[in-house]
Amino acid sequence: MRSDARPLGYFTALLSTLTLALGPTLLGGCDKMRGGGGGGEPEKGKAPESASGASSAKPADPAGDTILIGEFGSLTGSEATFGQSTHNGIMLAIEEVNAAGGVRNKKIAVKTYDDQGKSQEAGTVVTRLITEDKVVAILGEVASSLSIAGGRVAQQYGVPMISPSSTNPQVTQIGDMIFRVCFIDPYQGFVVAKFARENLKLGNVAVLYDQAQAYSKGLKDDFIKSFKEMGGAVPSEQAYTGGDQDFSAQLTTIKGTNPDAIFLPGYYTDVGNVALQARKLGLTATLLGGDGWDSSKLTEIGGPAIEGAYYSNHYSHEEQRPEVQTFVKKYQAKYNQVPDGLAALGYDSARLLFEAMGKAPSLGGKELAAALAATKDFKGVTGVISIDADRNAKKPAVVLQIKGGKPAYAATIAPN
Ligand code: PHE
Repeated sequence: MRSDARPLGYFTALLSTLTLALGPTLLGGCDKMRGGGGGGEPEKGKAPESASGASSAKPADPAGDTILIGEFGSLTGSEATFGQSTHNGIMLAIEEVNAAGGVRNKKIAVKTYDDQGKSQEAGTVVTRLITEDKVVAILGEVASSLSIAGGRVAQQYGVPMISPSSTNPQVTQIGDMIFRVCFIDPYQGFVVAKFARENLKLGNVAVLYDQAQAYSKGLKDDFIKSFKEMGGAVPSEQAYTGGDQDFSAQLTTIKGTNPDAIFLPGYYTDVGNVALQARKLGLTATLLGGDGWDSSKLTEIGGPAIEGAYYSNHYSHEEQRPEVQTFVKKYQAKYNQVPDGLAALGYDSARLLFEAMGKAPSLGGKELAAALAATKDFKGVTGVISIDADRNAKKPAVVLQIKGGKPAYAATIAPN
């Protein structure tokens, strides 16, 4: 758990609760408060209102002219760009599907909650999506620890959930309602190890990971296993807790082992701070990371300290595949930003969900989960997606290098 105080997040939580508690009363207990079909931007400080919880059992195919799905993500906090980019990708997919007539002749609407990057909040908002908003399916989360917290709730209620981007194996092991559209960390660890060993020809790589995140702990182990199998050595393994400000003790120990590189399987805010402090201490080793680096904030924080570093990711906006180029163009037109991997995965997760919704005999949890499980060769922006028996996707990873403050394509590494 993160220990830093987040007053803004606190008020966000309070306001969402108030909005939901007062909403139906203010509207005279009306059970049709679906606002903004297709959803809008979640207002800062409160969840967008799109449905109330007045009906009882979740209908297999909801009445009315919209189908409500749920989304939970970190729209604020130290991983805020994860939730924001994912939300942008999801909204683009919804806009497109609705413009094309919707799904099952109904428009898609989304209810989005900010979990502020906190596990406990993730569990709370997923409960709310299911019991109050009565969503038929849920998209989220990015951070594996939060997908695990939210996924347990979704599984318990039998509501299908797709994580766009959580890579820790435990996420889909929760049960048959939980899916993902991204690769998993044993593979990602292999990708970084292979790139370090074969492309960069490195022999000694130290590791500094976030002991508070399932993602970071798992990816650290996966990398070490692969790197050692490939003949590499790991001279030092150090830990921090997400949100820490001072990494000098760990970095000094690492410096003493004179590694060729340091692997940092953490999230971008911490990684940016680690990079700054590493360079200050005179550490010149190459920095390596995983998808948790995927944020424009990484270079804002790290500046020259992160220049030249490499990390594995789910896609590169420079890939020439038509799926990528079409998506990048549409996303830039709507948001005036280059989409990161999270935006692409958010978009893919929503489109894959809509396809399964269209094919399912009904939108009941079991039927929809079966349709999701049957997904084969779905042409995503982040690659071709087939859901395997463990409800995961097998896809190639790319390695990006930070050049001139921006991620540039360096290599593609396919599953062997
Ligand atoms: N894979 C990370 C996790 O499981 C989340 C992440 C995915 C972050 C993609 C950035 C980009 O926690």
